[in-house]
Amino acid sequence: MTLIYSIVVCCATMALTVSAVLPTLYEYYTLPKIETGLSANQSYFTLNGRNISLYSGALHYFRVPKPYWRDRLRKMRAAGLNAVETYIPWNLHEYEDGKYDFGKGGTDMQDFLDVKEFFQIAKEEDLFAIARPGPFICAEWEFGGFPSWLLRTKDIKVRTSDSKYMKYVTRYFDVLLPILALLQFTNGGPIVAFQIENEYGSTEGNGFEPDRVYLRQLVDLYRKNGIRELLVSSDSPTAHGDKGTLPGVLLQTANFAGNPKAEFDKLKELQHNKPTMSMEFWTGWFDHWSEYHHTRDDDDFGKVYEQILSYPASVNMYMFHGGTSFGFLNGANLNNAQIDNSGYQPDTTSYDYDAPLTEAGDYTEKYVIVKKLLNQYNKVLTKLPVTPAISEKIAYPKISVEKEMMLDDILANIHSSVSSFNLLSMENLPINNGSGQSFGYTLYRKENIDLPPNSVLTIEGRVCDSVVVLVNGVLMSKPLLYTEDLNGFGFWKVNNSKLTLGPRGLKNATLDLLVENWGRVNFGLLPQFNQFKGLWQGGVLINKEKVTSWKIYPIEFKKSWNNNLVGWKDPSGRWAPGPSLHKATLNVKETKDTFVSMEGWTKGIVIVNGFVLGRYARIGPQQTLYLPAPFLKNGTNTILVFEHYMPAPEIKFCRTPHFKTIKRKGLQGRSSSRN
Ligand SMILES: *[C@@H]1O[C@H](CO)[C@@H](O)[C@H](O)[C@H]1NC(C)=O
Ligand SMILES: *[C@@H]1O[C@H](CO)[C@@H](O)[C@H](O)[C@H]1NC(C)=O
Ligand SMILES: *[C@@H]1O[C@H](CO)[C@@H](O)[C@H](O)[C@H]1NC(C)=O
Ligand SMILES: *[C@@H]1O[C@H](CO)[C@@H](O)[C@H](O)[C@H]1NC(C)=O
Ligand SMILES: *[C@@H]1O[C@H](CO)[C@@H](O)[C@H](O)[C@H]1NC(C)=O
Ligand SMILES: *[C@@H]1O[C@H](CO)[C@@H](O)[C@H](O)[C@H]1NC(C)=O
Repeated sequence: MTLIYSIVVCCATMALTVSAVLPTLYEYYTLPKIETGLSANQSYFTLNGRNISLYSGALHYFRVPKPYWRDRLRKMRAAGLNAVETYIPWNLHEYEDGKYDFGKGGTDMQDFLDVKEFFQIAKEEDLFAIARPGPFICAEWEFGGFPSWLLRTKDIKVRTSDSKYMKYVTRYFDVLLPILALLQFTNGGPIVAFQIENEYGSTEGNGFEPDRVYLRQLVDLYRKNGIRELLVSSDSPTAHGDKGTLPGVLLQTANFAGNPKAEFDKLKELQHNKPTMSMEFWTGWFDHWSEYHHTRDDDDFGKVYEQILSYPASVNMYMFHGGTSFGFLNGANLNNAQIDNSGYQPDTTSYDYDAPLTEAGDYTEKYVIVKKLLNQYNKVLTKLPVTPAISEKIAYPKISVEKEMMLDDILANIHSSVSSFNLLSMENLPINNGSGQSFGYTLYRKENIDLPPNSVLTIEGRVCDSVVVLVNGVLMSKPLLYTEDLNGFGFWKVNNSKLTLGPRGLKNATLDLLVENWGRVNFGLLPQFNQFKGLWQGGVLINKEKVTSWKIYPIEFKKSWNNNLVGWKDPSGRWAPGPSLHKATLNVKETKDTFVSMEGWTKGIVIVNGFVLGRYARIGPQQTLYLPAPFLKNGTNTILVFEHYMPAPEIKFCRTPHFKTIKRKGLQGRSSSRN
């Protein structure tokens, strides 16, 4: 008895002593002084001359509200990770041609954009960092991080050494890279490695050969701007070999969900006597609208993570914390060999990813697995913080719609409409000081048109991405109620789509075509295809006659516009399906994280205090929108809903997210909710 007791006491004391004397990560790697950065000059990594395995997690600062950066980073460190990885989105930082936002630029996303502060907080939380500035970042992010105004340059070939493209990359990198250079490890900052491009090898095929001149130009831009740390590339080596890298210049890393041994063995074959690393080990997956919510089995995840650690290899979990693609910032896949938008698959607003931390920053079983395995495999013992408590969630009482506005009232608030003989894509509208329209909706209006009975509207080519048709304010197209509706008129899959406008003839009518940009493609067939949004592939015909002389309204839902709308009316109680705006007030005594439930609504966006939270669609899988406490304020909060078809009289809130997919009439999809 006594003996056992004393052993317990002794071990407890030892544990205490050991933890008290453990150095921080930075103490361990930077004292007494920093001489060298991350080295891949042998079969394992060293940092400042000491052995290191990178145990990293992906977290995108632009997907997490700034007041939560520290919390999420501390949770990451508390699990035993020693690095955070983030992409850097060009489209947010250079939001208009030559105009930048790094935190105070005045865009709606500015609160997310102080990238310098993000890296500083990472350091304060005792984490190293891996930066992936692209310029192409994939990331299920709008256009893979490219600003849409790039498309205004005719025949630009993104992701190549095309000088029309490199001119803009150079200008942007000459602004961005000096900021990052100050944050690199050998300058006392957290960044130990930079990734060049992203899965560049996967661009091969369909007549395209990855352009190594382009990769070389990117490397030269890094070096010219004072970046000295290790440069890497990432790809699946078993699928694309070394096509996406510069052998001997960049350290190639591997991206995969499973079978780490095959990928790492291939890496070793391609790069002799170099460290082995996975830049993206996929912890879960993302969702497209109309699909089922993706999850990854916890045991399978744990098994593969352990195979990686025991290989042994360094690893970045993609994602450790997915977060949210707020606003209109989700990307899309292009799923087939067509270059015409028919295989388009837009991503949802939630980027939960079934990762170790949920979209709202809560722990999952995967977090517990990671913590346990890192404790077992990481031989470098450093001081870890206490695991932070999770935030309290609240289901605010439901609120009623107080005011509404129909389409004409909405358009009366738009002062940047454009008259054009021909249709124009969103990007080519002469607005935003020559940068065009990036996000949201574009309405094409034809006034004073005569419509004989049963007139047939034809939209040549495909709509990018969906269209709601109204005549004299009356909805003509079918609402999006079921996934199967996506196969019909009004959506991207149909070429040369046709709609009959009703049996009654009308004189001097107004025809409205409201087009939504569901997010530009970030994966599949880059760089060859067009990414324009709106109506641009062909003409619009009424009974075979081409319609010309349009009035085009950009509906961007920018914050200052949202907050200054005039013309609100009391709800009529009349059920008139069609695009409309709805306003409600949420009174809050204490701000807490919550989820907005869009049950009863059909398709649209939710706006909180002027900020576009994201999209909703009845078809799912996402049925709720994460509303973080920092977006709310004590007192009165204004919630707007822009609904395309049929509104509900109230807005509900809940404590947990809800995913459900509605496939066909009469057939409900799977439903799931997580605590
Ligand atoms: C790796 O080796 C190269 C070539 O000898 C050298 O220039 C570089 O400084 C080394 N890197 C580190 C971090 O030691
Ligand atoms: C660093 O790691 C290598 C490879 O595992 C090992 O051979 C070497 O002894 C280690 N060095 C130190 C100082 O631990
Ligand atoms: C528009 O862009 C031009 C040239 O890039 C610049 O000189 C001008 O100040 C910009 N105007 C506004 C309103 O930003
Ligand atoms: C779409 O229709 C146009 C015109 O009828 C045709 O030229 C084109 O090949 C069609 N595209 C596809 C992918 O079917
Ligand atoms: C057509 O409608 C407009 C209002 O949209 C009106 O001003 C105009 O007088 C009408 N023209 C005819 C010929 O009815
Ligand atoms: C909001 O109110 C709560 C409770 O009354 C208080 O604790 C909190 O500090 C207030 N927050 C702000 C930003 O005023």
